[in-house]
Amino acid sequence: MGKFFEYIGSQMGNPRGIIGNIMTWGMNRANKVMYNGIVSEVNLQQNNVLLDVGFGNGYLIQKLYAKQKCTIYGIDISEDMIAPASKKNNKGIEEGNIHLSVGDCCNLDFQDCTFHIVTTMNTIYFWNDTLKGLQEIYRVLKDDGIFVNAVVRKESLKKIAYTKNVFKLFEKEDYIKLGKQAGFSNIEIKDLSNGFTFLVIYRK
Ligand SMILES: C[S@@+](CC[C@H](N)C(=O)[O-])C[C@H]1O[C@@H](n2cnc3c(N)ncnc32)[C@H](O)[C@@H]1O
Repeated sequence: MGKFFEYIGSQMGNPRGIIGNIMTWGMNRANKVMYNGIVSEVNLQQNNVLLDVGFGNGYLIQKLYAKQKCTIYGIDISEDMIAPASKKNNKGIEEGNIHLSVGDCCNLDFQDCTFHIVTTMNTIYFWNDTLKGLQEIYRVLKDDGIFVNAVVRKESLKKIAYTKNVFKLFEKEDYIKLGKQAGFSNIEIKDLSNGFTFLVIYRK
């Protein structure tokens, strides 16, 4: 059973094939409070350039673009997520505003100070080098930029069998400490309405 749960956990961290598609579809249904939390937190303007890290099947990008048309880049380590995310966001892609590619947030292929906003949801547990990922996001954010990171509380994740051996788990204080080490000067935690998820909001 341990191997089965590890397989499920690894699909969360890098969704592949049909199972990956089914799991990301499940995430869209299970995590509404988190998607809505990010969408209402970001004050999107038409001239903004936003990066979503680990877009999965592109559901968050779809919601952000529906809120405000702007320029959105998405990166994900899973090549298999490009097709479902492109399908969901075909309008924005055709309009030349949404750009999806394979990429790792620990080594971002973007110039310094490119983005007004960076978002990510349920991805930080899987980054190979958490501090490097935060440093990279700090680097590509504009000087008054904001990074919104939606996560599940450590106590809740610990109760889920598939997180064992796969997820890196962080306390609220860890998110703050690592963010400060990466260079962020202002870090705020906002609890979401379901009581077991929250946003970590990092300002440069
Ligand atoms: C649990 S899924 C969440 C997907 C999406 N954010 C959502 O909430 O619907 C985690 C996603 O992060 C991606 N990912 C994991 N590590 C990453 C990294 N270092 N850089 C970019 N994407 C990453 C995975 O491939 C996967 O699509």
